[in-house]
Amino acid sequence: EFTKDTVIVVFGASGDLAKKKTFPALFGLFTEDLLPSNTSIIGYARSPIELEDFRKRISSYFKTPTPELEQKAKDFVALCTYVSGNYDKDESFLNLLSHVESIEEKHETKNRLFYLAVPPSVFLPVATQLKKHLHPGDSGVARVIVEKPFGHDLASSEELQKGLAPLWTEEEIFRIDHYLGKEMVKNILPFRFSNQFINAAWNKDNIANIQISFKEPFGTEGRGGYFNDIGIIRDVMQNHLLQVLCLIGMERPVSTNAEDIRDEKVKLLRAVQPLSMDDVILGQYGASEDGTKPAYVDDETVPKDSRAVTFAALHMQIHNERWEGVPFILRAGKALDQAKVEVRIQYKDAAKGMFNSLPRNELVIRIQPSESIYAKMNSKLPGYSTKNIVTDLDLTYHDRYEGIRIPEAYESLILDCIKGVHSNFVRDDELKVSWKIFTPLLHEIENNKDIVPEIYPYGSRAPESLPKFLSERNYRRGDTE
Ligand code: BG6
Repeated sequence: EFTKDTVIVVFGASGDLAKKKTFPALFGLFTEDLLPSNTSIIGYARSPIELEDFRKRISSYFKTPTPELEQKAKDFVALCTYVSGNYDKDESFLNLLSHVESIEEKHETKNRLFYLAVPPSVFLPVATQLKKHLHPGDSGVARVIVEKPFGHDLASSEELQKGLAPLWTEEEIFRIDHYLGKEMVKNILPFRFSNQFINAAWNKDNIANIQISFKEPFGTEGRGGYFNDIGIIRDVMQNHLLQVLCLIGMERPVSTNAEDIRDEKVKLLRAVQPLSMDDVILGQYGASEDGTKPAYVDDETVPKDSRAVTFAALHMQIHNERWEGVPFILRAGKALDQAKVEVRIQYKDAAKGMFNSLPRNELVIRIQPSESIYAKMNSKLPGYSTKNIVTDLDLTYHDRYEGIRIPEAYESLILDCIKGVHSNFVRDDELKVSWKIFTPLLHEIENNKDIVPEIYPYGSRAPESLPKFLSERNYRRGDTE
């Protein structure tokens, strides 16, 4: 664990991710007193920026509603400096090294954390230069946090890994999937395995289907250039939603140790059938029905005939004892009717014959907004009636845990990295199996020009064919969704 004397270098410091997520997360940790004592933070990017401008720029994303926090923001930026340089030149990294060393003069140890918020094209050059010039060797510890995308498909991801592995050990690498830092995602394993009544019914005998859904109410506004080659499947499904699927589907790990957890994830992923076109619905948003919101292809950075996928529903099949025959439906879409990420577990029909057409039980794990877990249950309407009604067992965090601050995903993950805990980061073999599941489908979509996504209006619930797709997969729509 880095407990003191730490230098954090954020590469890509002038980029969006660094401004919106990385620096605010570091500031969040600072306000909670969770950064190692004597931490210095260096922003690094290509463009020369005056120190004062840099400090202003990063703090413009901090939330400082009180004078105390305003003061904290000032104290925090005083820890930050900026170095500009290239991503592949020796002299740039030697210059960075001398800056780091000048800070470390007062330090007893060399704890260096490198955060790579850089485009994939410069990822390897930076990792190479860092190893060459800034790895402290035996005189300290270095860790590297890397951001997605980790490749574009199985081959490119393996290529990247081949370049990286001789430089940095798995022990030193922290591949971030920020969904693993979300409060409710971190609760999945404790919730499943520490509650016997939940754990005992977590299988194909009791569960009819599992839906993992991601909805965003906005399109790719301004990010079309990035998104067009990526699509929603690579953007959030191969990583974020698949990680949630792992936590929902995996067997109980031997312990909470990182390797035990990641071993079970890999085992589960190896039992997932690779996807094909039989298992999917693909969509792309058109203009909103009232004409106020643009279609995806109206984005100037996007080709007019783009077939990019902005919505997908995928039927994942897991071939093992626990899940054989239970559909896992992943769905994700941009420009839909609401913002919501949740896991919905629908149980099998109960008490057929005794009661007619009972709604099925559902257990919902709401990841965002407003973290909650609730169960839809059947109960007799109180009083003289003999009718069954649906009721909720409801654990909504902001009601139950009032006053407890829920950290941002990035805060929690950067803190894990400072502590050297890998449980919530993606291991190399895990990455490889996850690409194996998605690559055949992604290639099929890209190579077959006859595959055209279904257009759905901006702001709608989903493409029109979704309800049929779901009911063919044993999903019964309740009155609750
Ligand atoms: C990112 C995707 O990884 O996750 C974005 O690139 C997406 O397209 C985002 O909007 C969603 O994250 P969150 O934390 O806002 O749910």
